[in-house]
Amino acid sequence: MRRTKLGINIDHVATLRQARFTTYPDPATAAVIAEKAGCDSIVTHLRKDQRHIQKEDVFLIKDLIKIPFNLEMSIAASIVSLAETLKPDQATLVPENRKELTTEGGIDLVKNYKKVEKAVNRLKKKKIKVSLFIDPIKKQIKAAKDLGVEIVEINTGQFSQKIPKEKQKKELERIKRAALFAKEKKFFVAAGHGLDYENIKKIVEINEIQEFNIGHSIICESIFLGLAPAVKKMLSFLKK
Ligand code: PXP
Repeated sequence: MRRTKLGINIDHVATLRQARFTTYPDPATAAVIAEKAGCDSIVTHLRKDQRHIQKEDVFLIKDLIKIPFNLEMSIAASIVSLAETLKPDQATLVPENRKELTTEGGIDLVKNYKKVEKAVNRLKKKKIKVSLFIDPIKKQIKAAKDLGVEIVEINTGQFSQKIPKEKQKKELERIKRAALFAKEKKFFVAAGHGLDYENIKKIVEINEIQEFNIGHSIICESIFLGLAPAVKKMLSFLKK
């Protein structure tokens, strides 16, 4: 049986730790448990302000896991330098705004083309696969193609919000069109942001999406079920 790949974002384990500046819960332990539960990659967003995941965490996680490590990051020069040293399997470039609660939208590749190009070229030189987190818009996908990356991650943030059913259906169609277009352009197509055990049921029907990156809902469910069962529960929804 085929299933869509699942990347687990473990940032919220670190959010809990940083709420009290304790040494627990340890995100690296969470990464290992998620790996054992059968996910396909581990995702963390190392923010410039290190408000959840810390620099030490990413080095430890990279050492401990055997599955691919996907580092979400901004295009800030200092973070690109860190990624050059860390050498994750993949870097996903996202916009970063200090005041946001979480990533608020895709990176605008058209507006920031030159800056993104500089970061992409530096990462590619270190043989790090680059993914660009973008809104489901054709011109963004075209710009990603011009930038020469292999992966795009479509932002599902709008779709995942508590919006009227009709609006959500339209957003799902917009994501489907974007996924189809990206697939035609020969991208590996990922998607993520705000996905949970309910909305995944609709979006998993889009066959062009090859991977979902999910964090918050799974870490929340793990409070009640434990992390491994929460990961396995999401995996069960990804079977085709
Ligand atoms: N993908 C990207 C690019 C993100 O920025 C995030 C949030 O860090 C996620 C996926 C996971 O989002 P969530 O925690 O809402 O599942």
